[in-house]
Amino acid sequence: EKSGFPHFMLKEIHEQPQTILDTMRGRYSYETGEADLPDIGLTPKEFAAVDRIWIVACGTSWHAGLVGKYLFEDMVRTPVQVDIGSEFRYRDPLVGKRDLFLTISQSGETADTLAAAREAKQKGARVVSIVNVVGSTLARESDGVLYTHCGPEIGVASTKAFTAQLTALYLMALHLARVRNVMKEADGKAWLDRLVRLPVLVESVLRREAEIVAIAKRYYKKRNFLFLGRGINYPIALEGSLKLKEISYIHAEGYAAGEMKHGPIALIDRDMPVVVLAPRDRLYEKTVSNLMEVKARHAPVIALVAEGERELGKTADAVFTIPETHPLISPILFTIPLQLLAYHIAVLRGADVDQPRNLAKSVTVE
Ligand code: F6R
Repeated sequence: EKSGFPHFMLKEIHEQPQTILDTMRGRYSYETGEADLPDIGLTPKEFAAVDRIWIVACGTSWHAGLVGKYLFEDMVRTPVQVDIGSEFRYRDPLVGKRDLFLTISQSGETADTLAAAREAKQKGARVVSIVNVVGSTLARESDGVLYTHCGPEIGVASTKAFTAQLTALYLMALHLARVRNVMKEADGKAWLDRLVRLPVLVESVLRREAEIVAIAKRYYKKRNFLFLGRGINYPIALEGSLKLKEISYIHAEGYAAGEMKHGPIALIDRDMPVVVLAPRDRLYEKTVSNLMEVKARHAPVIALVAEGERELGKTADAVFTIPETHPLISPILFTIPLQLLAYHIAVLRGADVDQPRNLAKSVTVE
């Protein structure tokens, strides 16, 4: 059942070129440069009338929601508010009838996410859910569903469901941008071009797993890790940190790189590896200067950088290169090495990767 892999988690990490493809399959048209999402529950006219978007989820799915915020605000030019299910539901949230309420859940059974969706519905918002499990409670109770179609996820730590959620968000952003007339047909086609190339790029990263194993071997005995990212890759720093802590039991924190000097820098010393996500985008120079501050405090730096990068390569203690793509799409490519890093560190520490202590695959209690 594990198809020759020692753990479900590793099998699921390696399935991602296929599952990203499965999430996209049959859902776009090259001729029109549009996404075709028939079960989304709102007509193009209704989508065009939306004032504000809410995204509510828990855990890894919440990280996907945070990526969604950067994506929708950039591509759709609509304000997006992201919330954790348990925070949203208990505060009498200001959701209105002209709001689009999006939930994201692998299982479709997470109690807090479900309760948030019910609350939003009661307040008159239209509820659309990105869900993996077909026929789950959340899928049944939503006005529209966008299934991720990535197959059953057995490993407790979510991997392929996360990249499938991101893929679904890419399709939804395209759909919204086109029906709201903020993206031209030619740009829609260019966006689709980048999306269909993703699986091949993911595959090329997976083929370099040995490089991640070597990094894991150097640092697996450390007790604390810091993950830094900016912009749309800030949520990926959070996700890399969550993956590491939940399966290896190493204390890890994810931070927006610009926030480091506001406190966490006090923790940095030679025993705290810092994983830096540094795509070549308009924030690149700022990330480099964050990294210099880290180096000045003698912390080991593990840098994830764009292909062809020289500067950081010289400064960092370990470097992993990420294939070049559009900055908004880069989160999927940055996710893969972080999943592998968490996995290999956990295995080296002898942890039960598929069944981490205290965790359940589906959190149906509050
Ligand atoms: C982390 C993880 C959890 C889930 C969270 C939400 O690896 O798996 O944080 O993401 O419990 O679960 P779903 O997506 O089923 O609502």
